[in-house]
Amino acid sequence: MNGFDRPEQPRSSGLSGDAELLEAMVEGASEGLVLLSAGGLILRANHAASKFIGQDRDSIIGRPIQAVLFKGAFEGSFIAEVVASHLAVSRAYDLADGRSVLVQGRPVVAGAARVVLVISDVTSVKQLVNLVQGPAGEAQSTWAEMRCAERTPPDGAPVVVRSAAMQAVRDKALQCATVDSPVLLRGETGTGKGVFAKLIHEASARRSGPFCVVNCGAIPEGLLEAELFGYARGAFTGADSRGKVGLIELAHAGTLLLDEIGDLPLGLQVKLLRFLESGEVWPVGASKGKRPDVRIVAATNRDVRQMIAEGSFRKDLYYRLNVLSIHIPPLREHPEDIPWLVATMLEQLERRLGRRKGIAPDALEAIGRLPFPGNVRELWNVVESLVVTVPSEIIEATDLPVDIADAPDALPAATREYDGGDLRQALRKLEAQILREALQRYGTQSKAARHLGVAQATIARKSKLYGLDA
Ligand SMILES: Nc1ncnc2c1ncn2[C@@H]1O[C@H](COP(=O)(O)OP(=O)(O)OP(=O)(O)O)[C@@H](O)[C@H]1O
Ligand SMILES: [Mg+2]
Repeated sequence: MNGFDRPEQPRSSGLSGDAELLEAMVEGASEGLVLLSAGGLILRANHAASKFIGQDRDSIIGRPIQAVLFKGAFEGSFIAEVVASHLAVSRAYDLADGRSVLVQGRPVVAGAARVVLVISDVTSVKQLVNLVQGPAGEAQSTWAEMRCAERTPPDGAPVVVRSAAMQAVRDKALQCATVDSPVLLRGETGTGKGVFAKLIHEASARRSGPFCVVNCGAIPEGLLEAELFGYARGAFTGADSRGKVGLIELAHAGTLLLDEIGDLPLGLQVKLLRFLESGEVWPVGASKGKRPDVRIVAATNRDVRQMIAEGSFRKDLYYRLNVLSIHIPPLREHPEDIPWLVATMLEQLERRLGRRKGIAPDALEAIGRLPFPGNVRELWNVVESLVVTVPSEIIEATDLPVDIADAPDALPAATREYDGGDLRQALRKLEAQILREALQRYGTQSKAARHLGVAQATIARKSKLYGLDA
């Protein structure tokens, strides 16, 4: 029981059980869905899949997928690749009838190892890609080879994109992955700029090259220049006499993420612009430039336009970096993703901490009502602290910190009733009231103690003092 299905269930649906609901979802999907054995035999296919294949379902069950999909143009090695890599693998096909189709294979374990194929018609996306980069031979092959592993090492967590807003972000990132132009990722802190920068790299033809990250705000200006551009042998006193290769060069054949680009000092903005315009890097003290093949992705949570107006960010650099631009919305604008994010987080934490937890629907609902100014990162912190502190298997609404459970009423009436007089006595009255309410709400002294951040012994002693344990 994971508790995540409930918020998704339509209340007045005529369908009785989960199985029927699931069946209706699978059959109603516009994507073709095929369940395969690890050897590539078709075990199940939905209605859309049989249309993609162009044959009755009865006649394809038990047959090898490569024998029936796209009239034999589908490579059987694809399935072996999914099984061997344990990753989601995608491949695009241009069909004879002019349609472009994306096939994504995902490994699943359902009793035995299986592969789920998701087949989608991406003709319109393909047209868009052609519009961006021209339908040249090179572009075609980039498209045909496009694979996206929707995973973000080091933790290997899947990227959750359930809401329409986040699906649009993912689609845009995948489009960006097909070209080499700079991308600017904008979004509040914790919205996933790092995640999508990595996704762009992983989905691009550069995925086997390095993915380097430099935080422009964390390194002092003097060091940052050497970090980015490197320096020549003997460039300055105190420098390593062998010289240093800069990150731009180290990211050759790969992607360089310039994180917190808004913090890049003006002097270095000029140098970065020169690199973006000429393709040349000049290590400090070097007599000739180098031409690394690197794709730049920049990220910022600051309002760069405002910075331009204030004169702290160069307009020309902004235009160079902002060729492709992706805005990642704050979590409060896509709360539909929260149940799926929580599910993923619980799975990740189970793997990392070895603690298996479920969550009750009302707890999930309470979490969904939180503001999360720190966005997905803050949600992670909340879920992780619940997994660590809640002893029972299912996280209940009452396990949420008091200020989360229902903030407006959390202040006991006693504070409103204070009518002057002896402060110590009023405080004791308030303390008794808080304890009484906490004990009522959480049921046990140990739970109340956890939520109030005190030892259970303290609760026991004070309960006795105020006569609450009678
Ligand atoms: N769509 C998503 N699916 C799953 N996890 C996500 C998603 N978006 C963000 N996360 C997780 O949330 C955390 C914050 O994401 P990330 O570091 O990419 O944010 P950021 O926008 O770069 O933040 P900052 O501006 O503070 O650098 C990470 O642990 C990341 O794995
Ligand atoms: Mg980041």
